[in-house]
Amino acid sequence: MKNLIRVLGVLLLLMKGGTTSAQQQIAIETEKISLVFTVGTNGRLYQSYLGKKLSAPSKALLSPGNGEAYVPSGGDNLFEPAVRMIHADGNPSLELVYESHAVKNEGGNTTTSIVLKDMVYPVKVVLHFSAFSKENVLKEWVEISHTEKAPVQLTHFASSMLHFKADDYWLTQFHGDWAEEMHISETKLTSGIKIIDSKLGTRANMYQTPAFALATNRPATEEEGEVLLGTLAWTGNFQFAFEVDEKQQLRIVSGMNPFASEYTLETKKNFTTPAFIFTYSDMGKGQASRNFHAWGRNHGVLNGNKERMTLLNNWEATQFDFDEKKLIALFGEAKELGVDMFLLDDGWFGNKYPRHSDNAGLGDWDANKKILTNGVSALVKGANEKGVKFGIWIEPEMVNPKSELYEKHPDWVLKLPNRKEHYFRNQLVLDLINPQVQDFVYKLVDDLLTTNPGIAYIKWDCNRMMTNTYSPFLKNKQSQVYIDYVKGFYAVMERIRKKYPALPIMLCSGGGGRTDYGALQYFTEFWPSDNTDAVERIFIQWGYSYFFPANTIAAHITSWGKQPLKFRTDVAMMGRLGYDINLAHLSETDIAFSKAAVKKYKELSPVIGQGDLFRLIAPTMDGRAALMYVDSLKQKAVLFAYTLHPRYGENWSAVKLKGLDPLKKYLVNETNIYPGANPSLSENGKTFTGEYLMENGLMVSQSNALSSAVIELTEVK
Ligand code: GLA
Repeated sequence: MKNLIRVLGVLLLLMKGGTTSAQQQIAIETEKISLVFTVGTNGRLYQSYLGKKLSAPSKALLSPGNGEAYVPSGGDNLFEPAVRMIHADGNPSLELVYESHAVKNEGGNTTTSIVLKDMVYPVKVVLHFSAFSKENVLKEWVEISHTEKAPVQLTHFASSMLHFKADDYWLTQFHGDWAEEMHISETKLTSGIKIIDSKLGTRANMYQTPAFALATNRPATEEEGEVLLGTLAWTGNFQFAFEVDEKQQLRIVSGMNPFASEYTLETKKNFTTPAFIFTYSDMGKGQASRNFHAWGRNHGVLNGNKERMTLLNNWEATQFDFDEKKLIALFGEAKELGVDMFLLDDGWFGNKYPRHSDNAGLGDWDANKKILTNGVSALVKGANEKGVKFGIWIEPEMVNPKSELYEKHPDWVLKLPNRKEHYFRNQLVLDLINPQVQDFVYKLVDDLLTTNPGIAYIKWDCNRMMTNTYSPFLKNKQSQVYIDYVKGFYAVMERIRKKYPALPIMLCSGGGGRTDYGALQYFTEFWPSDNTDAVERIFIQWGYSYFFPANTIAAHITSWGKQPLKFRTDVAMMGRLGYDINLAHLSETDIAFSKAAVKKYKELSPVIGQGDLFRLIAPTMDGRAALMYVDSLKQKAVLFAYTLHPRYGENWSAVKLKGLDPLKKYLVNETNIYPGANPSLSENGKTFTGEYLMENGLMVSQSNALSSAVIELTEVK
């Protein structure tokens, strides 16, 4: 009876032409993008348009189209749904109609919340869209709730569904493995579904990155073409489904991976999805990336507009082989180099099971009394006395079976009953769903920071994925483990951030296994890859540059690659500069060069970290690469050029610069030159108009392999 009344209610509304009247439009807009929804005569919500901003008269002409904004499963849908619910009575369907919407305005950015409700069941689905006006970025997330008498089951819960109608679709994805992150592949989508996903739970992005670019009609270049860049702000299993139907229409369903993740939703409780963040550009991938960078700095990354610290890390140089004396000597080296901080990596803890290798001690966060005789606080003091800050590595979500933590709490570990434990890097994942484990992780961070005042930075690692996945805490709700783990992780980070809002923390996961905007709201930067070979890093950092601003991309000079120090330094200067190298192995000239490089970097880092990025020559296209950063006033720019492997007799063309003011004049000055070497740039020291530099270009590529140049451009009045 109640259901009948509800149906009649909706019908009445439809007839009255009330809030659900036909052609009601909801436009979500930034300075340059419109996303328009229209309520159809059947009460359903349709995506009518997504693209370049439309004028009001043009918008008024839009028809609803046939792309339902958030397609539910179980009714007349024949393709991948956005949402699927099994009601308390076992009915596995939803039929969603528009109920109302509201718009909030905060400092020029709007959040539009569109309420959909089921025609029969007491279920609400709210689609939220934040529009970041000047960054031209949209953020969508969904809240699902109900007032049924018993819990319902959610089996699909997308954060976003977007529809496209074009002749062709070109998908760019980013994938890899340990030490080979962010390979870029572009493919034309064919009929059917292409899924990019992760089922790894933790270290979720080890194989696939939760980000993509989608160009319509033809592949987009840096400067041309219509392209959408999207990413999911979620530090766990994700799924992007790209489905091309029989009419060559595309729907993109983005969200947490529904794989093995049926979720029980209690009555009157909210299920909130993570956010899908996207931008659209009709001027190619370059502009879309700049949109993301601006949004990341302003809204996505913790303290994205603040300066980052340069550092000396000891991992590549010492691995587990160090003691207090060795470290104190390194503080002096950090000081001499001129970096802001010394970062102590893995191996400083564990007493009953000392952490001398990766097979013991993880979980026992007391300083090893033999190697650090006076504890961590003495190190902080020692570093500070030398005039450098002190940072420290932890991997709080993990445990070695050879540890006191494991002995005390074998039930704090994710593992299947009746199955053998399965190790990866000799370790297991803690059950962060368990509030006691959350307290443990919070406390270890809090204790570390309170008992060793002055710790200025944390590197937070996560060196394995989930296997044999089972949470002892969740008992008979095992299908929630993947989602609840991430919620547990965020709950801990919330607590940490409440007490330590500004502490810089690096997000690391055995290299780039965690690189997403869900985590980055709590972290200030990330470790893109353990692979620090400078040639490899050009490709890896290039890949990340599509989505993340340079000041979030930690880039260290190491001895992994055998390129000249100058080349390695120039590559690291494109991100957040650091060193992870045995300085004792460097010559005096190398040290002198490095000291000058650190100084120069500090001068240039506002442009690199906060400026607009222009990718000029892709390493994947040619035996060379070039990119540049330009500050917002177009007064200062920095260009990086690398020659990787020229073919015999290769004559490079001039590289046309971008993003400058054509009317301004710029002094071109090659910097970061190795002592005794001559500038490689024949135009060095000359002044050119922005127009000349952009139309004619500069001969920035050198003929010899593994050579590089950093070129500063400064406006002259
Ligand atoms: C991971 C990180 C490295 C280093 C080691 C320490 O592999 O990616 O940078 O911290 O752990 O064990």
